Amino acid sequence: MDTTTTTATAAAVGWNLLIARDDLSIAELADAPVPEVRDGEALLRVDQVGLTANNVTYAALGDSFRYWQFFPASREGWGIVPLWGFAEVVDSRVEGIEPGSRYYGYLPSASHLLVRPGRVDERGFRDASPHRQTLPRPYNAYALTTGDLAYEADREDLQILYRPLFWTSFMLADWLVDNAWLGAATAVLSSASSKTAYGAAFLLQGRGCEIVGLTSRRNVAFTESLGCYDRVLAYEDVVQLPNRPTLYADFAGDERLTASLSAHLGDALVHHVVVGITNQEPGPAGTLAETGPGMFFAPDQMRKRTGEWGRAGLDRRFADAWQRFAPVAEGWVDVVHGQGPQALTQVWREVQSGRTAPRTGHVVIF
Ligand SMILES: NC(=O)c1ccc[n+]([C@@H]2O[C@H](COP(=O)([O-])OP(=O)(O)OC[C@H]3O[C@@H](n4cnc5c(N)ncnc54)[C@H](OP(=O)(O)O)[C@@H]3O)[C@@H](O)[C@H]2O)c1
Repeated sequence: MDTTTTTATAAAVGWNLLIARDDLSIAELADAPVPEVRDGEALLRVDQVGLTANNVTYAALGDSFRYWQFFPASREGWGIVPLWGFAEVVDSRVEGIEPGSRYYGYLPSASHLLVRPGRVDERGFRDASPHRQTLPRPYNAYALTTGDLAYEADREDLQILYRPLFWTSFMLADWLVDNAWLGAATAVLSSASSKTAYGAAFLLQGRGCEIVGLTSRRNVAFTESLGCYDRVLAYEDVVQLPNRPTLYADFAGDERLTASLSAHLGDALVHHVVVGITNQEPGPAGTLAETGPGMFFAPDQMRKRTGEWGRAGLDRRFADAWQRFAPVAEGWVDVVHGQGPQALTQVWREVQSGRTAPRTGHVVIF
């Protein structure tokens, strides 16, 4: 694909990164027309995005959780993976949405996103495009950098990589404490080297429950070095867990690991909550299709707390937690910058195959 723009016609050509929905290792760049902007619409140019295991989970759960529906692909059997990052308004036919302004939010792995901004104010807008109205609401909000309490110009990379993950860490930690640890004395987190898991451990350590991180043997040293787990064990060593009431926050989605925890702990395994599937195994059809008691879905706890604390109260608590976490997390990640759609394709292949070191945080700039 040629992305150079030498003529007026070529300037109207953008790109999409398409992923084969039945084999997530297959990724292809394709030219795509830049959408025309009509009344009530604005065109965003995707500027800077991050890619972590969470984005691969969006693809793995693309059908059951409808993640493929946010940014529909025109080619049958292929999907456009949602990413988090910054985009710049390049054209607007909406009052209050100014060309040149910059927003943080849910973006396609593509050059552009056409939105239909609703509820526009100094903090941002919601995309009111009809196809997004039945999809989970938090994904439809775009935060204007100049009106965003959590925005820090010199920490954009950190925001790109961690903000959506840390919302989950924050809501999971809140949910566990809100529910008195579900009766557990030990909380075990798998894929403990992941950003979402260690963000939760950071918030939970020292709050009344022992926090144990489970990780791959090769990631034990990194995970221990974070200091946010009371104890770190390799997956093979779960038999070393003490036999006392234990809750399992499952980021790995590995059925064999669940079986060995269950065999070792028996009735002492008092609760199993699924937070992620870094192993990319969605399980039997329907297992993760709905937010049942076994599945943690951050927007559910957000809705509960928004009701109790109000949106401003929730945002303030999150901003406080973020301000404590961000300076620490800065020392836990090496940000690796890529440039352009080809780099995004390479990064997708690397992250999807699980080859990325836990210290690495990929950010791609266009
Ligand atoms: N429910 C929610 O609302 C929500 C929100 C955010 C994130 N999450 C989930 O949390 C999980 C972690 O996401 P993240 O973005 O924080 O991850 P990340 O920082 O990119 O995590 C990297 C770690 O995940 C494990 N991993 C990555 N790829 C793998 C593969 N192909 N096979 C096996 N293990 C692999 C490895 O950890 P170990 O060696 O330690 O296993 C690796 O060090 C994801 O499943 C994500 O979907 C859920």
